[in-house]
Formats: sequence, structure tokens, C-alpha cells
Amino acid sequence: MPLLLSRDDVIKVLEMDDCMAAVEQAFAEMAKGTAVLPLRIPITPPDGLALYMPAYLKEMGALACKVVTVYKNNPTQHNLPTVIGKVLLQNPETGEVICIMDGGYLTAVRTGAASGVATKYLARKDKNQIAGIFGAGVQAQMQLWAVAVARDLSKAYVFDISDQAVDNCIKVMSKKLNLEIIKADSAEQILKEADIICTATSSAMPIFDGEKVREGTHLNGIGSHTPNARELDTAIIKKSKLIADSYDACLKEAGDIMIPIEEGAIDQNHMVAELGEVITGKKPSRENDSEITLFKSNGLAVQDVATAKLVYDKALKANVGNQVEL
Ligand SMILES: NC(=O)c1ccc[n+]([C@@H]2O[C@H](COP(=O)([O-])OP(=O)(O)OC[C@H]3O[C@@H](n4cnc5c(N)ncnc54)[C@H](O)[C@@H]3O)[C@@H](O)[C@H]2O)c1
Repeated sequence: MPLLLSRDDVIKVLEMDDCMAAVEQAFAEMAKGTAVLPLRIPITPPDGLALYMPAYLKEMGALACKVVTVYKNNPTQHNLPTVIGKVLLQNPETGEVICIMDGGYLTAVRTGAASGVATKYLARKDKNQIAGIFGAGVQAQMQLWAVAVARDLSKAYVFDISDQAVDNCIKVMSKKLNLEIIKADSAEQILKEADIICTATSSAMPIFDGEKVREGTHLNGIGSHTPNARELDTAIIKKSKLIADSYDACLKEAGDIMIPIEEGAIDQNHMVAELGEVITGKKPSRENDSEITLFKSNGLAVQDVATAKLVYDKALKANVGNQVEL
């Protein structure tokens, strides 16, 4: 009988450090050729967007598909969230559906986890680093959590165009992480002070001047993932050592990369590695303390599948959720 896991059930069992380990393994499987990862399939009904995201991880024994929808009028017209996601996990040996779980919290944690793994491999290794987070929504909060797992932080700055979002982020995350989190006065303050920067906004336009990013900084860019939207300007893309989550996704979905290519500022070889190639040692990670490293994340189904398998295994062990006859 399949196990049904609600959002609260997922929250009960999913922690960032476990999720980072699972997501790291998933990226490694991509580099080893043991992952099956078609590009996500988009369907556009009149009022929204539906994305179908399947993947299979052979070594982890994980097969699943996430269905995620984005309906901008949901909150005002239907009293529903804009983004709704569910994951269907299967037994790869029989095809049997073994679990259906909520995908909202899972998506946020697995997106944080990818940046956490990128930070682990690409950021400078010194202690007492400062994190700077653009955006203060749920994704931004998970980015900060992951960076705090990956590196020893002395404090963090958060910048958002909504003061209310920043206040909420500081309230929730300073308690959760036991970390000093400060409202940044400006984007420039983050560029000046932060060693590790995450961009997790809903902006479709560049959110800072890349010329001002300091040597030695590591960035995780996760907010924009459609061809016409970008949070990062051409300057920061050009001066960074650029690591993709997937070359294919970056060339087909990431305005951050596609627009500078269209402008002729870079070509696709500017992406020097996929994260999995860095994890498996096929390509180098950071080579000195002065280079700027940038991980571009579009969100891959392998992250969902690895995380869903982790959640399922932990929920079974902890006796969380309800078995149902379908
Ligand atoms: N790469 C991935 O895997 C992945 C996964 C999930 C979501 N996302 C994307 O992450 C982004 C954030 O998601 P969320 O759920 O946290 O959204 P959200 O709406 O809760 O938060 C976005 C925040 O960005 C802020 N913002 C907008 N423009 C800004 C600017 N110029 N400077 C500073 N702040 C600005 C908004 O005020 C808001 O607080 C979305 O674009 C979403 O599509 C990416």
C-alpha cells in the first residue's frame, strides 16, 4: 500500500544535512552516467503552468516524478498557493507506486541542498565567513540554511525589496540557525561584505551590478530559471568560474546564461563544469582564494527524486504518514 505524506510529515523528517548528502549523490550519479534525467515537460493551461519532472537514479534505487504547477491567480481567486507540487515515488524494480508526498517543502529544501553542496565544493574554506542572501522568501531561507551547514558563518545579510519579507526571514531563520542575521541597507552592502552570496528572488531583471562582486566570492544563483528572466547580469557571468547544475538545463532554461550567450559576451564553453563533475573530481573545484565561483541552479528532477527517496525511507523508519489502498 502506498504511503501518503503530507507537508507536515515531510517537515517532520527532512533535514538539510541529510538532504545535502542525498542531493550530492544525485549530482554524482549524473556525472557517472547512472542518472536518467529528461528535461522537464511544460504544459500551459490557460491560467497557469504545469511542469512534469521525472528522473531515475540507478545507484540510489530511486524513481519518481514531481508535478509542479504555477498559477499566479490562485491566492486571489481560489484561496490556493501559487505553487503546488506533489511527488509520486515508485519502486524501480516493479514500477509500483510506493509513496505520494507533498512537494512544496521538499522543493525548497532540495533547492537549498544543491546550493549547499555547491558551496561545500566551491566556496573558500576559511572560518567566520559572511553570507549575503538576495530575497527573503522560502527559497532564500533554505539557501541560508544550506550555506550555514556547508560553512562556518559569523553572520548573514538579507536584502529584499519587501521589508516585511526580510523581517519575517530574520525572525524565523535567526532562531532556527542561532545566527546573527542583519537587514542589508542595499544590494551594494552585500557585495561589499559577503563571502558567499545566494540569489533567490522572483526578479526577472539583474538585481545587482556584477562589476562590484569581490574576488574570492562564491555565488549560488537559483531564482530565475526561464529563458527570458535573469537575476544575474552579464558582468558577473563573464567574470565568474561558472558551474552548471546541468549544461542542458542552463542552455535551454536559464536566462542568466542564455542572454549573455545571445549577446555574444560568452559562449557555452564558459560553463566549465557541471556540479556532478566537480563532486566526482572529473573537473576542478575552486583553485585559489581569489577566483569568483558561481553555481547556476535551475532545479533538476534528480534533486527531487533523491530527496523523495530520503523522505520515504526516513518516514518509514519513524512511522510517519498513512498507508492507503488506492
Ligand atoms: N532553481 C530552483 O531549483 C528553484 C526552485 C524553486 C524556486 N525557484 C525560484 O526561486 C525564486 C524565489 O522563490 P520563493 O518561493 O522564495 O518566492 P517568494 O515570492 O516567496 O520570494 C521572492 C522574494 O524576492 C523578492 N524580490 C523580488 N525582486 C527583488 C529584487 N530585485 N531584489 C531583492 N529582492 C527581490 C520579493 O520581494 C520576494 O520576497 C522564484 O523565482 C522561484 O521560481 C528556483
